[in-house]
Amino acid sequence: MERLQKMIQKAGICSRRKAEELIKEGKVMVNDKVVTEMGVQVESQDEIRVDGKLLMNEELVYYVLNKPTGYVSTTSDNLGRRTIMDLMHVKERVFPIGRLDYDTSGVLLLTNDGDFMNSLIHPKFKVEKEYHVKVKGLIRKEESSRLQKGMDLGDFKTAPAKIFDVEYDDPKENSYVKVIITEGKYHQVKRMFEQIGHPVIKLRRHRFGVVTTEGLAQGDFRLLKPHEIKQLWNMSRYGK
Ligand code: URA
Repeated sequence: MERLQKMIQKAGICSRRKAEELIKEGKVMVNDKVVTEMGVQVESQDEIRVDGKLLMNEELVYYVLNKPTGYVSTTSDNLGRRTIMDLMHVKERVFPIGRLDYDTSGVLLLTNDGDFMNSLIHPKFKVEKEYHVKVKGLIRKEESSRLQKGMDLGDFKTAPAKIFDVEYDDPKENSYVKVIITEGKYHQVKRMFEQIGHPVIKLRRHRFGVVTTEGLAQGDFRLLKPHEIKQLWNMSRYGK
Protein backbone atom coordinates (compact mmCIF):
# COMPACT_ATOMS: atom_id res chain seq x y z
CA MET A 1 0.00 0.00 0.00
CA GLU A 2 1.22 3.47 -0.81
CA ARG A 3 -0.14 7.00 -0.56
CA LEU A 4 -1.84 8.13 -3.74
CA GLN A 5 0.35 11.21 -4.25
CA LYS A 6 3.47 9.09 -3.79
CA MET A 7 2.24 6.56 -6.38
CA ILE A 8 1.67 9.38 -8.90
CA GLN A 9 5.11 10.86 -8.23
CA LYS A 10 6.73 7.43 -8.58
CA ALA A 11 5.16 7.04 -11.98
CA GLY A 12 7.33 9.99 -13.04
CA ILE A 13 4.43 12.24 -13.98
CA CYS A 14 5.20 15.07 -11.57
CA SER A 15 6.48 15.97 -8.12
CA ARG A 16 4.63 14.89 -5.02
CA ARG A 17 3.52 18.47 -4.35
CA LYS A 18 2.09 18.78 -7.87
CA ALA A 19 0.35 15.43 -7.38
CA GLU A 20 -1.29 16.82 -4.25
CA GLU A 21 -2.52 19.84 -6.21
CA LEU A 22 -3.95 17.57 -8.91
CA ILE A 23 -5.75 15.54 -6.24
CA LYS A 24 -7.20 18.71 -4.66
CA GLU A 25 -8.33 19.91 -8.07
CA GLY A 26 -10.31 16.69 -8.56
CA LYS A 27 -8.17 15.52 -11.47
CA VAL A 28 -7.28 12.14 -10.01
CA MET A 29 -9.50 9.05 -10.10
CA VAL A 30 -8.99 5.75 -8.32
CA ASN A 31 -11.03 2.87 -9.72
CA ASP A 32 -13.34 5.32 -11.52
CA LYS A 33 -14.01 7.49 -8.44
CA VAL A 34 -12.67 11.02 -8.08
CA VAL A 35 -10.49 11.31 -4.98
CA THR A 36 -9.94 14.78 -3.49
CA GLU A 37 -8.85 13.94 0.05
CA MET A 38 -5.16 13.61 0.81
CA GLY A 39 -3.35 10.51 1.94
CA VAL A 40 -5.63 7.85 0.45
CA GLN A 41 -3.80 4.52 0.35
CA VAL A 42 -3.66 2.67 -2.94
CA GLU A 43 -2.03 -0.48 -4.17
CA SER A 44 -0.52 -1.49 -7.46
CA GLN A 45 -3.68 -3.24 -8.69
CA ASP A 46 -5.75 -0.04 -8.30
CA GLU A 47 -6.58 1.76 -11.51
CA ILE A 48 -5.34 5.33 -11.15
CA ARG A 49 -6.13 8.03 -13.69
CA VAL A 50 -4.59 11.48 -13.78
CA ASP A 51 -6.40 13.91 -16.07
CA GLY A 52 -8.16 10.89 -17.52
CA LYS A 53 -4.91 9.12 -18.39
CA LEU A 54 -4.25 5.73 -16.90
CA LEU A 55 -1.17 5.48 -14.74
CA MET A 56 0.82 2.55 -15.93
CA ASN A 57 2.31 0.10 -13.52
CA GLU A 58 5.19 -0.56 -15.78
CA GLU A 59 8.55 -2.06 -15.16
CA LEU A 60 11.09 0.62 -14.24
CA VAL A 61 13.49 1.42 -17.07
CA TYR A 62 16.55 3.65 -17.39
CA TYR A 63 17.97 4.87 -20.69
CA VAL A 64 20.73 7.10 -21.97
CA LEU A 65 20.13 8.97 -25.23
CA ASN A 66 22.88 10.59 -27.25
CA LYS A 67 20.85 13.71 -27.94
CA PRO A 68 21.64 15.48 -31.20
CA THR A 69 21.22 19.26 -31.49
CA GLY A 70 17.93 20.35 -33.05
CA TYR A 71 15.67 18.53 -30.59
CA VAL A 72 13.91 19.89 -27.51
CA SER A 73 14.27 17.72 -24.44
CA THR A 74 10.64 17.90 -23.40
CA THR A 75 8.01 15.34 -24.27
CA SER A 76 6.05 17.83 -26.40
CA ASP A 77 6.71 21.27 -27.87
CA ASN A 78 4.15 23.97 -28.53
CA LEU A 79 6.35 25.43 -31.30
CA GLY A 80 6.13 22.15 -33.20
CA ARG A 81 9.86 21.44 -32.99
CA ARG A 82 11.21 17.90 -32.94
CA THR A 83 11.37 16.42 -29.46
CA ILE A 84 13.51 13.69 -27.94
CA MET A 85 10.38 11.51 -28.03
CA ASP A 86 10.82 11.37 -31.83
CA LEU A 87 14.02 9.44 -31.07
CA MET A 88 12.94 7.34 -28.10
CA HIS A 89 11.10 4.43 -29.67
CA VAL A 90 10.27 2.61 -26.44
CA LYS A 91 7.00 1.24 -25.12
CA GLU A 92 7.35 2.80 -21.66
CA ARG A 93 6.34 6.38 -20.85
CA VAL A 94 9.74 7.82 -20.05
CA PHE A 95 10.73 11.33 -18.98
CA PRO A 96 14.05 13.14 -19.28
CA ILE A 97 16.11 13.68 -16.13
CA GLY A 98 16.71 17.41 -16.39
CA ARG A 99 17.06 19.21 -19.69
CA LEU A 100 19.53 19.91 -22.44
CA ASP A 101 18.98 22.97 -24.60
CA TYR A 102 17.74 22.67 -28.19
CA ASP A 103 21.25 23.37 -29.46
CA THR A 104 23.07 21.20 -26.89
CA SER A 105 23.98 17.58 -27.62
CA GLY A 106 25.13 14.60 -25.58
CA VAL A 107 24.13 12.54 -22.58
CA LEU A 108 20.47 12.72 -21.64
CA LEU A 109 19.08 10.21 -19.16
CA LEU A 110 15.45 9.12 -19.35
CA THR A 111 13.37 7.00 -17.01
CA ASN A 112 9.87 6.21 -15.81
CA ASP A 113 11.16 5.98 -12.22
CA GLY A 114 10.02 9.19 -10.52
CA ASP A 115 12.08 8.60 -7.37
CA PHE A 116 15.25 8.14 -9.37
CA MET A 117 14.53 11.23 -11.45
CA ASN A 118 13.75 13.42 -8.45
CA SER A 119 16.83 12.39 -6.54
CA LEU A 120 19.12 13.09 -9.50
CA ILE A 121 17.73 16.55 -10.22
CA HIS A 122 17.46 17.63 -6.60
CA PRO A 123 19.98 20.45 -5.97
CA LYS A 124 21.19 18.93 -2.72
CA PHE A 125 22.48 15.85 -4.54
CA LYS A 126 25.70 16.57 -6.32
CA VAL A 127 26.13 14.48 -9.42
CA GLU A 128 28.94 15.52 -11.75
CA LYS A 129 28.10 16.62 -15.26
CA GLU A 130 30.97 17.07 -17.66
CA TYR A 131 30.54 19.38 -20.63
CA HIS A 132 32.79 19.88 -23.64
CA VAL A 133 32.46 23.46 -24.73
CA LYS A 134 33.61 25.56 -27.66
CA VAL A 135 33.62 29.25 -26.79
CA LYS A 136 34.37 32.45 -28.62
CA GLY A 137 37.76 33.99 -27.92
CA LEU A 138 40.78 32.77 -26.02
CA ILE A 139 40.17 31.88 -22.40
CA ARG A 140 42.86 33.05 -20.04
CA LYS A 141 43.82 31.60 -16.67
CA GLU A 142 42.32 34.51 -14.68
CA GLU A 143 39.01 33.96 -16.45
CA SER A 144 38.81 30.22 -15.92
CA SER A 145 39.77 30.70 -12.28
CA ARG A 146 36.58 32.75 -11.84
CA LEU A 147 34.61 29.65 -12.85
CA GLN A 148 36.75 27.52 -10.57
CA LYS A 149 36.02 29.72 -7.58
CA GLY A 150 32.27 29.85 -8.16
CA MET A 151 30.53 32.91 -9.51
CA ASP A 152 27.48 35.04 -8.95
CA LEU A 153 25.02 34.65 -11.84
CA GLY A 154 22.54 37.12 -10.38
CA ASP A 155 19.88 34.66 -9.27
CA PHE A 156 22.33 32.19 -7.73
CA LYS A 157 25.97 31.58 -6.96
CA THR A 158 27.54 28.62 -8.71
CA ALA A 159 29.54 26.01 -6.82
CA PRO A 160 33.20 25.77 -7.84
CA ALA A 161 33.56 24.23 -11.31
CA LYS A 162 36.45 22.12 -12.57
CA ILE A 163 38.05 23.45 -15.76
CA PHE A 164 40.59 21.41 -17.70
CA ASP A 165 42.09 20.61 -21.12
CA VAL A 166 41.84 24.19 -22.39
CA GLU A 167 42.96 24.40 -26.02
CA TYR A 168 42.87 27.10 -28.69
CA ASP A 169 41.87 26.50 -32.31
CA ASP A 170 44.31 27.06 -35.13
CA PRO A 171 43.63 30.68 -36.11
CA LYS A 172 43.51 31.32 -32.33
CA GLU A 173 39.95 32.65 -32.38
CA ASN A 174 38.09 30.17 -30.19
CA SER A 175 38.78 27.93 -27.22
CA TYR A 176 37.86 24.34 -26.43
CA VAL A 177 37.29 23.73 -22.74
CA LYS A 178 36.15 20.85 -20.56
CA VAL A 179 34.12 21.80 -17.52
CA ILE A 180 32.57 19.78 -14.69
CA ILE A 181 29.69 21.15 -12.64
CA THR A 182 27.45 19.50 -10.08
CA GLU A 183 24.41 21.74 -10.49
CA GLY A 184 22.00 22.04 -13.36
CA LYS A 185 20.46 25.50 -13.39
CA TYR A 186 18.76 26.80 -16.51
CA HIS A 187 21.40 27.63 -19.19
CA GLN A 188 24.04 27.34 -16.50
CA VAL A 189 27.10 26.59 -18.63
CA LYS A 190 26.18 29.20 -21.24
CA ARG A 191 25.61 31.81 -18.56
CA MET A 192 28.90 31.04 -16.81
CA PHE A 193 30.94 31.51 -19.99
CA GLU A 194 28.88 34.50 -21.10
CA GLN A 195 29.73 36.17 -17.81
CA ILE A 196 33.47 35.86 -18.38
CA GLY A 197 33.05 37.30 -21.88
CA HIS A 198 33.27 34.07 -23.89
CA PRO A 199 29.89 33.14 -25.37
CA VAL A 200 29.33 29.43 -26.01
CA ILE A 201 29.43 28.39 -29.67
CA LYS A 202 28.94 24.66 -29.16
CA LEU A 203 27.96 22.64 -26.11
CA ARG A 204 28.00 18.92 -25.56
CA ARG A 205 27.34 17.01 -22.36
CA HIS A 206 29.96 14.31 -22.32
CA ARG A 207 29.09 12.65 -19.01
CA PHE A 208 26.37 12.51 -16.39
CA GLY A 209 27.73 10.80 -13.28
CA VAL A 210 29.32 7.65 -14.62
CA VAL A 211 27.32 7.57 -17.84
CA THR A 212 28.76 8.63 -21.20
CA THR A 213 27.61 8.20 -24.79
CA GLU A 214 30.64 6.15 -25.72
CA GLY A 215 29.73 3.79 -28.55
CA LEU A 216 26.38 5.48 -29.14
CA ALA A 217 25.77 7.29 -32.43
CA GLN A 218 23.95 10.64 -32.25
CA GLY A 219 20.23 10.01 -31.90
CA ASP A 220 20.72 6.47 -30.54
CA PHE A 221 19.90 5.28 -27.05
CA ARG A 222 20.56 2.25 -24.87
CA LEU A 223 19.47 0.87 -21.52
CA LEU A 224 21.69 1.81 -18.59
CA LYS A 225 23.72 -1.06 -17.20
CA PRO A 226 22.90 -2.21 -13.65
CA HIS A 227 26.22 -0.86 -12.31
CA GLU A 228 25.50 2.55 -13.87
CA ILE A 229 22.07 2.71 -12.21
CA LYS A 230 23.60 1.69 -8.90
CA GLN A 231 26.37 4.28 -9.12
CA LEU A 232 23.90 7.05 -9.96
CA TRP A 233 21.74 6.09 -6.97
CA ASN A 234 24.81 6.10 -4.74
CA MET A 235 26.01 9.43 -6.09
CA SER A 236 22.66 11.07 -5.61
CA ARG A 237 22.38 9.76 -2.07
CA TYR A 238 25.91 9.76 -0.74
CA GLY A 239 27.80 11.91 -3.25
CA LYS A 240 30.07 9.09 -4.43
N1 URA B 1 24.09 24.37 -19.62
C1 URA B 1 23.55 25.06 -20.63
O1 URA B 1 23.74 26.26 -20.74
N2 URA B 1 22.80 24.38 -21.52
C2 URA B 1 22.59 23.05 -21.48
O2 URA B 1 21.91 22.51 -22.33
C3 URA B 1 23.15 22.35 -20.40
C4 URA B 1 23.90 23.03 -19.49
